[in-house]
Amino acid sequence: MKFFVDTANLEQIKEAQDLGILDGVTTNPSLMAKEGITGEANVLAHYEAICELVEGDISAEVIATDFDGMIKEGKILADIHENIVVKVPMTIDGIKAIRWFTDHDIRTNCTLVFSAGQAILAAKAGATYLSPFIGRVDDMNWDGIELIAQIADIYTIQGFQTQILAASIRNPLHIVRAAEAGADVCTCPLSSILGLAKHPLTDIGLAKFLADHKKGNA
Ligand code: E4P
Repeated sequence: MKFFVDTANLEQIKEAQDLGILDGVTTNPSLMAKEGITGEANVLAHYEAICELVEGDISAEVIATDFDGMIKEGKILADIHENIVVKVPMTIDGIKAIRWFTDHDIRTNCTLVFSAGQAILAAKAGATYLSPFIGRVDDMNWDGIELIAQIADIYTIQGFQTQILAASIRNPLHIVRAAEAGADVCTCPLSSILGLAKHPLTDIGLAKFLADHKKGNA
């Protein structure tokens, strides 16, 4: 399973990159705004900076919601760097745009996915990645992990090549369960990635080893 970090914060991206396990980055307009990155020129420059930091797929989201606007923006984003993946919302115009990008060798990440039906449509259009938002599904009192498992089953049965990118991850357990359910990629906040390393028995065990080592060398 690939690991992407879900942020536009350059320090966090660098920290994730330094772990040596990072395969890419996802952003969205909210994450860009959170870092105070506004205006087209600044947004494009920020994507460029992310591409310089990380050798892996970088999702850059279109703002337009109509087909022509998405194509225009997607072409500009894809021109920034070969690792850019154009992020397109799951709408009817979005599906048409994904088909257009697929036919023009531009890779896509279909975002805001909440159902298996949407997953089928995106795969038919040739999306490179599909982003089911599991945390937001859980927030609605449904089961985000079950959605990942259902899509994984359908993609296997049907032979779809689209990669399932579990998004809207809220905690380390989401990552473990998404891996178990068949996600190809998890995009996570840095805190959830770091949380995977934590276990109190590791801390207790390490403290004991160090104490015994100290005693033995006293
Ligand atoms: C990433 O591609 C998504 O935009 C992101 O994971 C959404 O996460 P959120 O539900 O925490 O905003």
